Amino acid sequence: MNNQNETIAICGLGYVGYPVAMLFADAGFNVIGVDILEERVQRLNEGENPIKGQEPGLDELVEKVIKKGNFRATADVKEYCKADFIIVAVQTPVAEENKKPTYENLKAALRSIGQNMKKGVTVVIESTIAPGTMEHVVKPILEEESKMIAGKDFYLANCPERLMPGHLLENIRYYNRVVGGWTPESATKVKELYKHVIQGELEETDCITAEIVKAGENTYRDVQIAFANEMALLCEAYKANVWEVRKLINNCKKVTETRPEALRQMHFPGAGVGGHCIPKDSWLLIHEVRDIVNPKLIPTARYINDFMPIHMFELLESAVKEVGKEIKDLDVLVLGWAYDANSDDDRNTPTKPFIEKLEEAGVKYEIHDSFIDEYKGNIKEILKGKDAIVLMTGHDEYKGLKYEEILGVMNEKPIIIDGRNIFDKEKVRKAGFVYKGVGNI
Ligand SMILES: NC(=O)c1ccc[n+]([C@@H]2O[C@H](COP(=O)([O-])OP(=O)(O)OC[C@H]3O[C@@H](n4cnc5c(N)ncnc54)[C@H](O)[C@@H]3O)[C@@H](O)[C@H]2O)c1
Repeated sequence: MNNQNETIAICGLGYVGYPVAMLFADAGFNVIGVDILEERVQRLNEGENPIKGQEPGLDELVEKVIKKGNFRATADVKEYCKADFIIVAVQTPVAEENKKPTYENLKAALRSIGQNMKKGVTVVIESTIAPGTMEHVVKPILEEESKMIAGKDFYLANCPERLMPGHLLENIRYYNRVVGGWTPESATKVKELYKHVIQGELEETDCITAEIVKAGENTYRDVQIAFANEMALLCEAYKANVWEVRKLINNCKKVTETRPEALRQMHFPGAGVGGHCIPKDSWLLIHEVRDIVNPKLIPTARYINDFMPIHMFELLESAVKEVGKEIKDLDVLVLGWAYDANSDDDRNTPTKPFIEKLEEAGVKYEIHDSFIDEYKGNIKEILKGKDAIVLMTGHDEYKGLKYEEILGVMNEKPIIIDGRNIFDKEKVRKAGFVYKGVGNI
């Protein structure tokens, strides 16, 4: 077991690194948070929680840790020399033009860690990385900068994070995790450490397996969502309702079935996929072997999901034709800027490409989102004189809209385009709207 007098440095204090730092500090370790953003460092040392979305338990945990006094943030990379463990949680995006990981932040972090870490330290990569990165990027940089050998002078492991904004603490505490060690001793070291904050299983394996598992599980979701989206497009063409189809597909089981797991698990179709992770992790998964394998399913799934905001615009165009208006004359309210329901996270939001289509077509629009300061407002007020509502994000607030009331303030022949199956098609049509939903027109 670990000695809680040990010091843990967390490199990168964002959605992943910050809650991890708070949990280890709460477990009694000395925690040094290192980030390159001086202003963030200063705010963290004043006790501010940088994560503004709904995060159950985080504010209380931060308050507890600040009282305890065993967490501090710094931008000084020399502090790594004090650490017995260094956990890396910096961002790992892919480049827009070629979808290849740039690793600018990861490489800079590794260089500063390598130059300062002490002998016997354990370095853990929590960032999501392309399979092969531990061997071809992480280990060589650390060895070159430190003049030490992984597995001999220091321990090295990949323990990818599985959290989602909105559930940060719950996901860290209760999800099973994979620990890929550069050596078996490295994996065991990390497992012993993480037991202090994680109640899920910690499954030891090697680095390449852990890397594939993490990028693979997010790719699985992306491919499943793409299947659901393609089913939605097929249902539109067949004039069927994808939500009814999905329900009946997922109900495929024997009446005598006692196993809890479903045999079919068709995901939700919708207006697009966003967030920091899902839109890029498929590209990470295939990155190093793309030229050898020439994968087709995974990139195709990406293109299908990226197409869905464009399809939202197509649905709007077809509704406009139906009511005999011109698209360029429209005034539209777009509901939702965050990529996920009831969250403030707007990284890679599908609303952005949809808005770009509106702008290309010269459509007048306004955006509403109660979770984003810039887009807060009274929906009924904003709807005055609008021709259409386009729902991109399924915030709970939108489920409570009173059709009759909003109908009264909108222009004639109002349109609803539903990207998240929030509205009741029959009811809104009865109220007088022209309705088109993804997979349900
Ligand atoms: N956000 C999620 O839901 C989630 C879930 C699972 C895995 N991940 C993965 O975890 C990693 C981090 O994601 P995130 O959402 O926390 O990113 P983030 O952008 O919220 O946080 C990254 C932090 O690292 C800091 N940083 C960058 N370079 C640094 C350096 N050289 N030294 C010190 N700090 C540095 C940044 O300033 C930032 O505060 C990514 O690889 C991501 O794919 C994220």
